[in-house]
Amino acid sequence: MRRLLVTGGAGFIGANFCHYWTRAHPADPVVVLDLLTYAGNLASIAPLIDSQRVRFVRGDIADRARVEALLLAERIDTVVNFAAESHVDRSIEDPQGFLRTNVLGTQVLLEAVRHAWAAHAMQERRFHHVSTDEVYGSLEPTDPASTESSPYAPSSPYAASKAAADHLVRAYARTYGLPCTISNCSNNYGPYQFPEKLLPLCIVNMLQGHALPIYGDGLQIRDWLHVEDHCRAIDAILSASAAGETWNVGGAGGDTNLAVVQALCDLVDAALAADGSLAQHFPQSPSTSGRSSRDLIQHVRDRPGHDRRYCVDSSKLRERLGVSAGTALGAGLAATVQWYLANEAWWRPILSGEYRDWYARQYPQRHAD
Ligand code: NAD
Ligand code: DAU
Repeated sequence: MRRLLVTGGAGFIGANFCHYWTRAHPADPVVVLDLLTYAGNLASIAPLIDSQRVRFVRGDIADRARVEALLLAERIDTVVNFAAESHVDRSIEDPQGFLRTNVLGTQVLLEAVRHAWAAHAMQERRFHHVSTDEVYGSLEPTDPASTESSPYAPSSPYAASKAAADHLVRAYARTYGLPCTISNCSNNYGPYQFPEKLLPLCIVNMLQGHALPIYGDGLQIRDWLHVEDHCRAIDAILSASAAGETWNVGGAGGDTNLAVVQALCDLVDAALAADGSLAQHFPQSPSTSGRSSRDLIQHVRDRPGHDRRYCVDSSKLRERLGVSAGTALGAGLAATVQWYLANEAWWRPILSGEYRDWYARQYPQRHAD
């Protein structure tokens, strides 16, 4: 049995992880620490809080005293750190918050953990840090996949902040003997993803008849990982990995952004064609009037410094822990479209307020050239 602290548990992957963990390990107490930034959404874990499967604490990973007190009061033996600023475009607009949370926040969290666990046998503790494939930087089409020992070459302020955090985790492991593991995963998709990210952005835009903004030629390659597969991988790492190890977690392979968005268009069109009440409910969707959602695709100004391709080699995870991403991309995308169709009550409120301002700032700028 573990006593978990899940930081960033009201965000996309953290919330999915809480759902996963409480199903897979129903006896384990789970505490979520989340600042509830624009990206945090209590609705994503409300049923778990209401049923007391999860205890929610609103707080900052960069608040040392608060975190240390929580670790002690809850007798936490396992920390899974998802808390971060996660959106590359926002890091380009304003990098500072990324350094504060992703770098300083991670260091403060490590420091709190180090002090709280000082009196305990460290081998019974685990600090797992969730990182990204972006730390390895952009690959050319024929470059081999990045392994756990590939050099770091982050491109965006976001990726640089995640790289710095990884270095800090390793420094705490080596210097203080903190029992840490790191996972570097590829692009996640699935339920509860904030609609600033490509896939949910395109789904909700199709349903509203809005443009689908494709940066540049849309031939950038991402390796889509269903969030449930990611959660299973973290579970395997927590249960079977020695401290000090790093694990790449890749997805279904590599696909261009354009191909993935076209696949989503076809899935939304098919879902609305199959269900007249859905079509009536989303009258602005092109499929409702017999057109293709692909008509909404618009190529817009590219992201500055846009990485062309990511690809991680997950053979270590597969061979040593027996875990690989089992969700085929087609099936995962279809399930994700169904989730957004069935959960408008989750995404509709997000489209107002801060999100509306962000969207309004982003898209006129992208069309400007
Ligand atoms: P997200 O933006 O959806 O959620 C981040 C969560 O962290 C939010 O709930 C937010 O409120 C919380 N948070 C932010 N700052 C905080 C702070 N100072 N203290 C406490 N909580 C804070 O992010 P996500 O997509 O779920 O990503 C989770 C983690 O996985 C991040 O570390 C990210 O870098 C990493 N990651 C994400 C992906 C992906 O495809 N989404 C891929 C690779 C790695
Ligand atoms: O690779 C892992 C990373 O995946 C994580 O570390 C990040 O936290 C996560 O946000 C994600 O980063 P990306 O930049 O790859 O995700 P995003 O959804 O923003 O973009 C995916 C691709 O789609 C990328 O090549 C940029 C492109 N894109 C994105 C948006 C928002 C578009 O073409 N149009 C868009 O409107």
